[in-house]
Order: sequence, then C-alpha cells, then structure tokens
Amino acid sequence: MATKSREVRLKSRPVGLPEASNFEVATVDIPDPGPGEVLVRNEWMSVDPYMRGRMYDRPSYVPPFQIGEPLQGGAIGTVVKSNDPKFAPGDLVESFNGWREAYVSPASGLNKLPAGVPPQAYLGVLGMPGMTAYTSFHRIGEPKAGDVVFVSGAAGAVGSAVCQIAKLRGCTVVASAGTDEKLAWLKSVGVDATVNYKKGNLLDNVRAAAPKGIDIYFDNVGGDHLEVALEVARPFARFIECGMISIYNDKEPAPGPRNMSYVVGKRIKMQGFIVSDFADMRDQFYTEMGGWVRDGKIKWEETVENGVENAPKAFLNLFSGGNTGKMLVKLG
Ligand SMILES: NC(=O)c1ccc[n+]([C@@H]2O[C@H](COP(=O)([O-])OP(=O)(O)OC[C@H]3O[C@@H](n4cnc5c(N)ncnc54)[C@H](OP(=O)(O)O)[C@@H]3O)[C@@H](O)[C@H]2O)c1
Repeated sequence: MATKSREVRLKSRPVGLPEASNFEVATVDIPDPGPGEVLVRNEWMSVDPYMRGRMYDRPSYVPPFQIGEPLQGGAIGTVVKSNDPKFAPGDLVESFNGWREAYVSPASGLNKLPAGVPPQAYLGVLGMPGMTAYTSFHRIGEPKAGDVVFVSGAAGAVGSAVCQIAKLRGCTVVASAGTDEKLAWLKSVGVDATVNYKKGNLLDNVRAAAPKGIDIYFDNVGGDHLEVALEVARPFARFIECGMISIYNDKEPAPGPRNMSYVVGKRIKMQGFIVSDFADMRDQFYTEMGGWVRDGKIKWEETVENGVENAPKAFLNLFSGGNTGKMLVKLG
C-alpha cells in the first residue's frame, strides 16, 4: 500500500535573498519498495548554506536543483520496510533524501548509522559540517600549538566545531558571530576572545582580540571578514576558505578584498576546498571526533524547526543568523 509523504519543491529560482514563495509543499504517494529497495521515514533533515548555490541554474560541483522537483540534502531516517538483507525495520539510516517525509531508495543509497549518540548529531558535529571543520582545519590549516586562529561564522555548525578543535590542538581562538548570546556560548566552550561583527568597527575589534595577529583564518563568511583577516594576518598565515555566506545572495559579483596584495608580502597560503576533497580522512574523523564527542570534549548546539513545511523557514533563517549551532528540521 502506498505511503503518503509531503515534500518541499523549488517553485522558482530566488533572485537575491530567497523567500518563502520560492518553495512549495506537495503530497505524493510513495510506492512499496521493490526488490533491493528500502522504505524509509525521515526523522531529521539538514538545511545548509551551500543549498543556496544549487538554486542558481549554473554549473557547479553539485548539479542545480530543478524547478518543480523536490530539494535534496542530508537526512536521517528509520527503515519502515526492507527488501534488502542489509537493512531491517527500525534501522537508523543516513541518506541524501532530505526535504521529504518518506522515500523509497535502493539499499545502495543508504548508510546504516550506529546508535549511541542522538541521531541528528550525524547531520552536525559527526556529519558533513563536523567533517568539514575537522578535515580542512588540519589539512589546510596545519595547526601548531600556540597558533592564533580567527574563525568567522563561529557559532554555526562548522564554525563552532572549528573553534573547539582548535582549542584541543592548543591554539588560541578568536571567534566572530552576530549576537552576544552566541558569543557567550562560544566562551563557555573555551573560546579565548570574541567579536560581535554587528557592533563597532570589525578591524578594530579583531585587532583588540588578537593583538599579535593571526596564524590561521577559518573563513565561513568572506566579504569584510576576509579583508580584516588579511589585515591582521601574520607572515605565513594559512587561510582556510570554507565558505562566503555574506555574498551568497548578492545579485552582482561582490568586490574583492581591497588589501589582497598582502597575500604576496605576508606569504599567505589561501586554499578553498569542498569537504569531499578530504574523503580519505573519514575514518580518522570518526575515530578522533567521535571520541571527543563521547568524552564531552566537543559540545554542540542545535536549532530546530518542526515539520517539513517549515524547512524553507529554517533554510531562510541561516541568512539572518537565526541558528546557534546546527540548523535542523525535525520530521515525524
Ligand atoms: N567548503 C565546504 O565543503 C563546506 C561545507 C559545509 C559548509 N561550508 C560553508 O561553511 C559556512 C558555514 O556553514 P554552516 O553549515 O556551519 O552554517 P552556519 O554557520 O550554521 O549558519 C550560517 C550562519 O552564518 C552567519 N551569517 C549569515 N549571513 C551572514 C553575513 N552576511 N555575514 C556574516 N555572517 C553571516 C549567521 O550567523 P551570525 O549570527 O554569526 O551572523 C548564520 O547563523 C558556510 O559559508 C557554508 O557555505 C562549506
């Protein structure tokens, strides 16, 4: 018998900041699983800033979302019915079939998850954002004890993991975020100095927080933050170019930092990446990060919207700082 599922589709391509009217919710019938297939009911889904890039109709490292089609993204669900010996009802599985309540998938499209931590952690600190933080910080940042690390977007899913990993590596951490409440949480998990980028002069405030300059910049934001980081960088600083959320909704290309020439004189290493570039570090990530999470050495926050119909709202809130830690949608 068919299962009813609601799903969120892209109704129109956003121009500038996305709006609720760019999305629509539809109800569909999900057929029974065929041979080798599994029926899954989603429990949690992720909304992520990179999804904004998939709303443009342009070639990128992931294909664009299509108008009238359900969106996609990371999701954690429970197996309801399985026609594959590797999965049984009740199994917790991870997939890329988010933005919908239920789906049928070939067994090969699912990854069985261990119990032991709250399942939504596999969308955050033990999922793609945690892996992004852990892998790029080590591979590109090449951290040493005593380094000063500046993290923008520091109270988000990736940023808050970076701050805590940097502390575990013996670094001094300067974090910027958009509210005092977010900064208070970052202090409570060990961050040394904080900057509210919405108050006062960003350069003056970062200079005061990092008077001797910075050795590593973890960039989640781009724009003014990148310009400030170039200004305060020490010679041979490493810039981990993770994301530039401040310009994702720009209608025209944003001007670059005015002080880019520091890259030469200060011999800065600046490298962008996509988390999949570091797939070879997956086992190391699960072992070390998993241990830190189990031992309480890495803490995480989450901000939760309920119901698939509120997934667009959760997504839009990423661009106004509505989340502390991982932005999630609870389904079911
Ligand atoms: N390269 C990769 O493979 C990869 C993988 C995952 C994520 N990323 C990137 O990493 C960054 C963080 O992702 P996330 O999933 O952890 O998101 P997140 O930080 O949990 O959520 C987005 C946060 O960005 C901040 N923000 C929004 N607009 C801003 C603006 N104009 N200026 C400054 N801050 C702004 C907001 O916090 P405030 O209150 O502080 O403004 C918001 O809470 C994003 O740029 C994302 O695209 C890259």
